[in-house]
Amino acid sequence: MKLVVVKLGGSAITDKKRKFTPRHGVIRNLARDVKKLSEKFQLILIHGGGSFGHPVAREYEIHKGLFSKKQTLGYSKVRYYMTMLNQVVLEQMIDEGVPAVTLHTSNITTARNGKIASMDIDRILRYLNLGMVPILYGDAVLDLERGFCIISGDQIVSYLALSLKPWKVVLGTDVDGIYSKDPKKDSEAELIPVFSISRIERIKAEKPEIDVTGGIIAKILEMRKVVEAGIPVVIGNITVKQGLLKLVKGETPKYTKIVV
Ligand code: ADP
Ligand code: IPE
Repeated sequence: MKLVVVKLGGSAITDKKRKFTPRHGVIRNLARDVKKLSEKFQLILIHGGGSFGHPVAREYEIHKGLFSKKQTLGYSKVRYYMTMLNQVVLEQMIDEGVPAVTLHTSNITTARNGKIASMDIDRILRYLNLGMVPILYGDAVLDLERGFCIISGDQIVSYLALSLKPWKVVLGTDVDGIYSKDPKKDSEAELIPVFSISRIERIKAEKPEIDVTGGIIAKILEMRKVVEAGIPVVIGNITVKQGLLKLVKGETPKYTKIVV
């Protein structure tokens, strides 16, 4: 079976404007898509933090590394709220009959200077080989230089893609792909069907104040090595019905393929 690495963006699975608010309807539809896809593909799911991860990480500046004892409570809180969001995602998967299993990122990953230094990929592979669907998520993790840091779901996606060489990487978010400008702020924004990373300076993309992992620009840059390795990367909307299903199968005309 072909392996697909899927990011379930925090923008899609949570309401980024309201703290600790999952989008239950979206997650239920995603679980239905995953159920169908899991019959044809091997899948690894990685979800983002959305309004569970970012506000807490920002409040305690966990993404800047350990510089004050007060932050340790913040680390606990990020881990706690991310686990909570993960439970919501996992519950829907199980309800739809998906044999999903969470590998809590923090427990199998070590970072160095904000980047993944090591991850116990063997465990992920063992679950895949059992016919299960591993789930990871952007998380607070131990950092060999900084004490701790935040690892984004997109970093996990690129790390796993480079290690496992999937058939395809699918980045699911709440807009149809990469636009000339933020489509939520500018009605004249145009969808770019094939986006070259070398032209990144040509798009306008401000990240929300609350986002500690860099928004869409960081996401695109994180994919550079993946596309250079010849792995197809697409980004599209997974908040619409069957959005994920169609993106994986290549059945939607509205998406962006990221190229070198
Ligand atoms: P996710 O949390 O889904 O992984 P991000 O929130 O990091 O993704 O990035 C997606 C968001 O980026 C969208 O909600 C969109 O409003 C915003 N955005 C800003 N500029 C752009 C752009 N030029 N093209 C597409 N999306 C953009
Ligand atoms: C962020 O992960 C995780 C935390 C803030 C703890 P992501 O950067 O992948 O989250 P989204 O998709 O942008 O919400």
